[in-house]
Amino acid sequence: MNLSNLFFDMIDVKRDIYQNATLFTQHRLSPEEYQNIYFNRSDYQNIDNVADFIKSKRIEKNDWEAQNQKFIRYHQSLNPHTFFNSIPIDHYIGQKTKLAFVQNQIVIDIGGGTGHFLSSFFRYPQSLKYFLVDPNVRLLHDQFVRMYPELLEIPIAHIRAYAEDLPFKNDLADLIVSSSAIDHYSDYKLFLKESYRCLKRGGSLLISSHLAGAKSNDSSNFGIIGFIEKAARGLHRLKNQVSLNDHVKEFPSTEELIYELNKIGYQIQEQEVFKQYFYIVARK
Ligand SMILES: C[S@@+](CC[C@H](N)C(=O)[O-])C[C@H]1O[C@@H](n2cnc3c(N)ncnc32)[C@H](O)[C@@H]1O
Repeated sequence: MNLSNLFFDMIDVKRDIYQNATLFTQHRLSPEEYQNIYFNRSDYQNIDNVADFIKSKRIEKNDWEAQNQKFIRYHQSLNPHTFFNSIPIDHYIGQKTKLAFVQNQIVIDIGGGTGHFLSSFFRYPQSLKYFLVDPNVRLLHDQFVRMYPELLEIPIAHIRAYAEDLPFKNDLADLIVSSSAIDHYSDYKLFLKESYRCLKRGGSLLISSHLAGAKSNDSSNFGIIGFIEKAARGLHRLKNQVSLNDHVKEFPSTEELIYELNKIGYQIQEQEVFKQYFYIVARK
């Protein structure tokens, strides 16, 4: 991909708020370059430099193609409202926990989606060995590319797997992150156990998401303009066949998670509920 041409072509192009985004593939590291060092098994297929552990095991849970198409439509349909709300949340958590400033670490991003967390959270993304784990292969959208051009430059190890069945060696990662994703896993307790196994002693797990019942903040306009805006957004999602809520489980507070983390042996380092969101940092 010629990046200067790509950025040149974005200049002065008109874009309305509900225009579908252009999607891009991340710069992916070839699994052959890292598999022997980081994986605990080799039963994956290399598909476009995604180490696919799901296809090879023939777990066609939830019809992967349909899931993937759903996420591609979701990403195309993301508008600046949604996008610009997620960035300060990541920045806030990064500042409070100081985890945004880590360098030269092995980081596993579980349910990592597009991989944007590499740049929207971490201040030294170039220095990290970054593993993106997600059962769906999602693509970067142009708004992230405009904001964080390095997402097209820094190679990410992209792994198709479930949080509940991680293909990594024991005691490997310095940091495991799960941002806005724990509410999507079918068995979050297994994810906590798997993360514990894959973390080095002293390594940290960062879990963040919204709380149950959190409302989308992008409808803060009241009156007739607010109503029209809400209707326009609804129509846009309908047109793109994007559901309003696809969470498996939502947490009303951090209590249950902290209980389960303690049970496994994690030490809670810090936790905070802020506005309608939370984060927890737990250490192995
Ligand atoms: C709302 S997105 C969050 C993406 C990204 N972490 C972010 O902050 O934007 C939730 C992600 O969880 C992924 N997911 C769903 N079930 C999963 C599972 N069992 N294991 C790992 N990831 C899963 C979805 O494919 C999706 O990419």
